[in-house]
Amino acid sequence: MLSYQHSYHAGNFADVHKHLCLSLILDSLNKKAKPWSYFETHAGTARYDLEGEQAQKTAEYLSGIGRIYDLKLPPLFYSYLNVVKGMNTKGSSLAYYPGSPLIASEAVREGDKIALMELHPGEYQQLKAVFRRNDDVAVHHRDGFEGVMSLLPPKPNRGLILIDPSYEVKTEYQQVAKFIIKAHQRWSNGCYMIWYPLLKAANHQAMLRKLRLSGIRKILKAEMCVKSDDDDRMYGTGLLVINPPWQLDEQLKRVSDILQTRLSAADAPEVVVEWLVKE
Ligand SMILES: C[S@@+](CC[C@H](N)C(=O)[O-])C[C@H]1O[C@@H](n2cnc3c(N)ncnc32)[C@H](O)[C@@H]1O
Repeated sequence: MLSYQHSYHAGNFADVHKHLCLSLILDSLNKKAKPWSYFETHAGTARYDLEGEQAQKTAEYLSGIGRIYDLKLPPLFYSYLNVVKGMNTKGSSLAYYPGSPLIASEAVREGDKIALMELHPGEYQQLKAVFRRNDDVAVHHRDGFEGVMSLLPPKPNRGLILIDPSYEVKTEYQQVAKFIIKAHQRWSNGCYMIWYPLLKAANHQAMLRKLRLSGIRKILKAEMCVKSDDDDRMYGTGLLVINPPWQLDEQLKRVSDILQTRLSAADAPEVVVEWLVKE
């Protein structure tokens, strides 16, 4: 089933939390001169028109990026906000939002490599169009789990895989866990960033349990809620980072606490940044 379109949700609170974490990891990778590889299993289209019909219909971005775009925030936010601001140069108002592939491509240096998987035919065409003149970025119309697995272990051998499904189908939670366990056997030193929604049904718990018991070490968990956890809609956003860069835990705590004061209701549970599995 491929009915999900990210343009309805681009720039919402979950995107802001996820894309900030992504920028922090890319900043850390860029602290060393050695080139990196970057993969996405579920790429989306890379550019979102916030004034378009779909984004306007839900207006989710107004309670996400819309709440922080004009604020003066600490340096940990700079790389992420610079990409968002770079897309909105004509007139200062917020009209466009970057997807994760664009955030990664803005961090790329000579020798770094990006490979993106997108299965939806229309989303794939848009993604391909964004990177048509960019030789650093390979765009594949392919199942993300199978496509990324076929490229492991990569050259360059340091880097990151972003796993960001929509979880339209409940079996995706188990698929993600299975993918990570197999990918980690091929590329144990890679960094893995997995997004999941916080919903009342708590379907993510089985995925977390499977990964906790998998034998994989160094799994960081970061969750931020914007509503009370008995809300019927997505009340929060979660990330797992396997092999996180040094100090990512402290950085995520700092940015998530700031984000939560701007994006969350007073009865939202506290930010969580903790080790699911330690070293
Ligand atoms: C949540 S969106 C991705 C958002 C993007 N990573 C970002 O942060 O900007 C999920 C995307 O995965 C695509 N998709 C769904 N199933 C897929 C699969 N098996 N392989 C690759 N892409 C898939 C959907 O079409 C959708 O564009």
